[in-house]
Amino acid sequence: MMLKNDLLIKACNGVTTPRAPVWLMRQAGRILPEYRRVRALAKDFKTLVKTPELATEVTLQPVDILDVDAAIIFSDILVIPEAMGLNYEMEENKGPVFPRRIESVADLDSLHIADGEELEYVLQAIRLTKKALNGKVPLIGFAGAPWTIFSYMIEGKGSKTFSLAKKMLYTQPEFSHRLLQMITSSTINYLNAQIKAGADVIQIFDSWAGILSPAQYADFSLRYIAQICDSITGVPKTIFAKGAFFARAEMNKLNCEVIGLDWNMDIAESRILMPGKTLQGNLDPCALYGSIEDVRRETKKMLHAFGSHRHIANLGHGLYPDTEVDKVKCFIDTVKGA
Ligand code: CP3
Repeated sequence: MMLKNDLLIKACNGVTTPRAPVWLMRQAGRILPEYRRVRALAKDFKTLVKTPELATEVTLQPVDILDVDAAIIFSDILVIPEAMGLNYEMEENKGPVFPRRIESVADLDSLHIADGEELEYVLQAIRLTKKALNGKVPLIGFAGAPWTIFSYMIEGKGSKTFSLAKKMLYTQPEFSHRLLQMITSSTINYLNAQIKAGADVIQIFDSWAGILSPAQYADFSLRYIAQICDSITGVPKTIFAKGAFFARAEMNKLNCEVIGLDWNMDIAESRILMPGKTLQGNLDPCALYGSIEDVRRETKKMLHAFGSHRHIANLGHGLYPDTEVDKVKCFIDTVKGA
């Protein structure tokens, strides 16, 4: 199907656009009262994720309400461990928790490489969303990076330090590589299935990239991201590695079109380190706590630093839940007016 608004695809591919496309990480589910209504109807987060009609509805909300240039499928990065055999639960106001975590070889042996079809509920949500969008804007599919998924599977929950996951890298590197490879193979199957179902662009979230040393990051994260990039063809790929400022020159070598920047990464320096890539980002989500004038000024500053070419306007990480919708609209409108 032809896209009516293909700004994102063009920017990914390095084609000059009249303005930068704009969307926001975590644009669905975090700030909209309309989301909370559907969420209450679904009772819990997992039911929402596993009911394609409802997942479609909340995917479309930011496109209709915020008028962004892309939709991102409503799901979570933790559907992959679940498909591999490790269930997660989403605790109200707390975040994800795994009743069982990966500690031993026996635990590892209980897992399997997920087949894309095991995530049929996400694939069906993608098909329904594509149909409803009718080419209005492109649809972004996504997955967690193997290292970030590994961290959750080892810790069993979120953590400030992820020291259990890091301990595993130091004390059991072979075991770690075995699990990372299983996650990588599952993710390749999953992303290819998302593309087959209709995803126009895919993004990999490496939310915990910043807690590894450069050498560990190369060995335990980037090599698996590279494998994913080399195994996915046909749609543009975006890698967002939060905190991986030290790996930018290495990321320029990945077989992907777009690199997401967080707000710690200097824009001019990133252009020099990653000359081959379209850059996405990178306004600090906290900048949206300022006044409307502040948001407009900070957004313009960001746009100016990126220049008019090969830029996808976004935040430097996901929206925070207590951000006012008006400030988000101001960010979007400022990009559109530039
Ligand atoms: O617009 C969108 O981006 C929605 C789709 C989406 C969700 N999670 C829905 C969600 C996406 C892209 C994610 C990615 C995700 N999930 C990441 C990577 C991005 C990042 O922020 O670094 C990570 C680390 C997770 C794991 C996760 N899921 C956590 C830590 C939490 C709890 C904190 C929170 O609210 O994000 C979740 C829950 C979750 N995932 C919610 C939503 C809408 C909130 C749950 C609810 O509605 O009760």
